[in-house]
Amino acid sequence: MEELETEIEGILINGLDIIKFSDDTTVMRWVLRTTVAVLNSARPKALTMEEAASIPLVGLTAWQALIERANLKKGQKVLIHAGSGGVGTLAIQLAKHVGALVATTTSTANLDWVKALGADIVIDYSKDDFATILRDYDVVLNTLGGEVLEKSLRVLKPGGKLISISGPPDPDFAKDMGSSWILRQFMRLLSYRIRKKAKRHRVSYSFLFMRANGDQLHEIGRLIDSGIIRPVVDQVFPFESTNEAMAYVERGRAKGKVVVRMS
Ligand SMILES: NC(=O)c1ccc[n+]([C@@H]2O[C@H](COP(=O)([O-])OP(=O)(O)OC[C@H]3O[C@@H](n4cnc5c(N)ncnc54)[C@H](OP(=O)(O)O)[C@@H]3O)[C@@H](O)[C@H]2O)c1
Repeated sequence: MEELETEIEGILINGLDIIKFSDDTTVMRWVLRTTVAVLNSARPKALTMEEAASIPLVGLTAWQALIERANLKKGQKVLIHAGSGGVGTLAIQLAKHVGALVATTTSTANLDWVKALGADIVIDYSKDDFATILRDYDVVLNTLGGEVLEKSLRVLKPGGKLISISGPPDPDFAKDMGSSWILRQFMRLLSYRIRKKAKRHRVSYSFLFMRANGDQLHEIGRLIDSGIIRPVVDQVFPFESTNEAMAYVERGRAKGKVVVRMS
């Protein structure tokens, strides 16, 4: 390792090659080894590498939506769409841990195991319309498209929060990103309709884009170590089958996360 380190003649910041390295292959190998070593030392002890790799994106997204943005509390009601998906499986467990009442949507085949994750009310979207069943919710976490997003407004009580991770982006997100004036106006336009409808329903709409956060990941790791949250991995593909893995994810039927193993 020492020998490799002396070969480093550059700095990588946020993936940008700030200064050129002398030997890209060596450095890549070093970066990969270091990343794997860090992941290995930080991963919850009960998890395999594949399970641990499935956590950060969906864990942080669920945490930032429910804990940070929604400030979800014991006794509140939350609707988590697509409870069988990558984000949904983690969000259900996190919301239950907080003490919220959790409703979710999924298809017939997934009803039982999604309930086993902790959801109190599981709605079969192929048979029932969640918007005619659920009332007076404090929070909706949307992971689906425009029609579901707009219908979700009806489920919320006044003052409730509609948080979407699948768009459309809003002006606050543009501001946080440090976007140009033009881009800010574009995002304002993209979310105009849903923001206007949300206002009419006396609820708030916001778009969330997950960002890296070591402290939150550490907290999630603690919940996993104590058996409160468990990862849900649908399939692990070898690196050579990355295209198949992508195609599987794009079909939108994954149950939990899909992982690609690099070995
Ligand atoms: N903004 C961010 O930071 C962020 C972070 C992570 C993900 N995302 C986005 O969030 C979305 C969700 O991600 P994900 O990884 O959780 O998705 P995913 O795992 O690919 O979702 C697949 C699941 O969605 C369910 N589903 C499909 N249509 C449904 C419907 N109409 N009602 C209820 N459930 C339905 C499927 O269940 P059935 O097979 O039973 O239909 C399947 O289990 C994606 O658009 C992703 O790009 C955004």
